[in-house]
Amino acid sequence: MSHWSLDSWRNRPVKQLPTYTDSQALVDVERQLAALPPLVFAGEIRSLKSDLARVARGEAFLLQGGDCAESFAEFSADKIRDTFKLLMQMAVVMAFSGSCPVVKVGRIAGQFAKPRSADTETVDGVELPSYRGDNINSVEFTAQARTPDPQRMLAAYHQSSSTLNLLRAFSRGGFADLHRVHQWNLGFVSQSPAHQKYEALGEQIDQALAFMAACGLTSENTPQLSETSLYTSHEALLLPYEEALTRQDSLTGGWYDCSAHMLWIGDRTRQPDHAHVEFLRGVQNPIGIKVGPTTDADDLRRLLDILNPMNEPGRINLIARMGAEKIGDYLPQLVGLVRDMGSQVVWSSDPMHGNTVKASSGYKTRSVEAILSEVKSFFEIHQAEGTHAGGVHFEMTGNHVTECVGGAYQITEAALAERYITQCDPRLNADQSLELAFMIADTLKAARK
Ligand code: PEP
Ligand code: CO
Repeated sequence: MSHWSLDSWRNRPVKQLPTYTDSQALVDVERQLAALPPLVFAGEIRSLKSDLARVARGEAFLLQGGDCAESFAEFSADKIRDTFKLLMQMAVVMAFSGSCPVVKVGRIAGQFAKPRSADTETVDGVELPSYRGDNINSVEFTAQARTPDPQRMLAAYHQSSSTLNLLRAFSRGGFADLHRVHQWNLGFVSQSPAHQKYEALGEQIDQALAFMAACGLTSENTPQLSETSLYTSHEALLLPYEEALTRQDSLTGGWYDCSAHMLWIGDRTRQPDHAHVEFLRGVQNPIGIKVGPTTDADDLRRLLDILNPMNEPGRINLIARMGAEKIGDYLPQLVGLVRDMGSQVVWSSDPMHGNTVKASSGYKTRSVEAILSEVKSFFEIHQAEGTHAGGVHFEMTGNHVTECVGGAYQITEAALAERYITQCDPRLNADQSLELAFMIADTLKAARK
């Protein structure tokens, strides 16, 4: 294979990158980013890799989730706290009811760039570049807002840095202590069935903790009870940003993309001979690969050869995003192929991106029913193939939004307008997410019997 360097991706065909009009301004920003501190460290990235290796062996479960796209406007301590709480709640439900360790990875602290199906958008006869995420341009429909601006990469870096700072404080500063499980509950769900189930589970956890304390295991002497690890991830789409934050580890000499612990390659940029795959093959981070209905067996085999030639466990997370109707037709043969290659991957289910529909009111939405159905099929397919259903990948928010239809509260298409605030894809709200966590916990429990 040809020599990899930090910028060898620049010689490959590339999809989904913005065109910056002022190339000098771009170079200036790249230089500034390259001089800023890394957001995460190589040692943390290695810890995630060994956690994911456990998932690949079927000893743990992966929960990955967060916004479709973070935004500059929706940025506050409360918002970060609520995403953190929701991930903690879902993880505790899966770990306790499913008796399975859960590896937590947020789509957070860097998830800004979005692939688009069309380069331009036309409104009332006016054609402008598509919105590509807040680190590239702005969502307002004016020529100025839609012009890609490299300065936005610096703003995204600084927002990611403050977000990570707070997440680290929540993880290690006492908020993640299991004795606080009741405090992770999000106010607006208090009447919902999922909330009540969660409260009951919290009481069981309280009892278990009291018993452990009687045996001498407390938060003071057992850090596993008082601290957690929440890793970060985003789609490695905006390659100038990723390149500028990639650093050589002084301990091992390896290259690490220090913009996040885990990066993934989207469904639109996974061509084996293109720039995104070229860039990611040279960094040591765990890499997610979206696998959709158009992924063929040959491409998947080539991607695994290129991105994981040493078959290192914990390196690759195949994220199936087929759609509830298609998963049965497409996934089994790919799972079988990877199994027969002896490739040690984590398989996870993204039941969001294959189930996006347009409601009659015009809103992009997804139904909880389709999401649930895709996750169930995912588990069944792995059971049939003798492989591990390793995890789930959700677009969700701790905010009280009405973007996905269904769930115990039965958000109808007519109700979508009430609190539809996503700048990109529709997200599960806290209630709907918790409901799914309970369903997955039951499935995990059954699978472990
Ligand atoms: C996403 O995860 O936000 C996304 C765009 O997914 P996909 O590449 O699978 O369409
Ligand atoms: Co999305």
